[in-house]
Amino acid sequence: MKLFVYDTPELTPTDALPDCAVVIDVLRATTTIATVLAGGAEAVQAFSDIDQLMDTSEQWSQRRRVRAGERGGAKVEGCDLGNSPLECSCDRVQGKRFFLSTTNGTRALQRVEKAPMVLTAAFVNEQSVIQYLQQEQPETIWLVNSGWQGSYSLEDTACAGAIAHQLLPNLPNHLDNIGNDEVIGAIALYSQWQTHLLELFHLSSHGQRLKRLGKQADLDYCAKRNSLQVLPKQKEPGVLVAF
Ligand code: MLT
Repeated sequence: MKLFVYDTPELTPTDALPDCAVVIDVLRATTTIATVLAGGAEAVQAFSDIDQLMDTSEQWSQRRRVRAGERGGAKVEGCDLGNSPLECSCDRVQGKRFFLSTTNGTRALQRVEKAPMVLTAAFVNEQSVIQYLQQEQPETIWLVNSGWQGSYSLEDTACAGAIAHQLLPNLPNHLDNIGNDEVIGAIALYSQWQTHLLELFHLSSHGQRLKRLGKQADLDYCAKRNSLQVLPKQKEPGVLVAF
């Protein structure tokens, strides 16, 4: 198993694909995806383009669909929801297809959708992802952070570090498993902040953006490690189900 960390989707190679891609967008897309699938949604269908989301979801009756759109942290006009996991209660999502388009997370998913295996991870479901990776042992794994419009994000890299640290617990014995230096950097960031993740979120640029939008409670929720036992896995390009 060789592990790579990419701090934004744009940094992933364009001439190769991993055996397994794990997309991370802690604030908030992959936290929302885990919450929605744990809440019994039929599937999450991700779109980088909001107009495509609206067109495709038109084929589903209103009682069998939820449209969730976010740009800049705020809800997109015409959608049922923004991208707050706290709005995705079981009674709102159970049995429905959850159509989702966000600023970065859904773009990251599109970037890697051709990989043979695509998972999503956040702190709320990190153990479910780690256990699956330990069991399946993909030859190459990319941990793909969504970042913010092409820039680095602290919270995504810390989550990649949490996963990498638990997959490679004793680095000197794992030199052959380290695909790039970003793996070490992510583990170092996680190790520094693992006991006070919420403080890290408050320091992050996107955490501050969300607080300005009155979404402080979302930060609290996104920091709750392993609050959900769910493994979001792609069953066809752009469509994720609970595996
Ligand atoms: C993203 O896609 O970058 C995030 O999910 C944005 C957000 O929901 O605040």
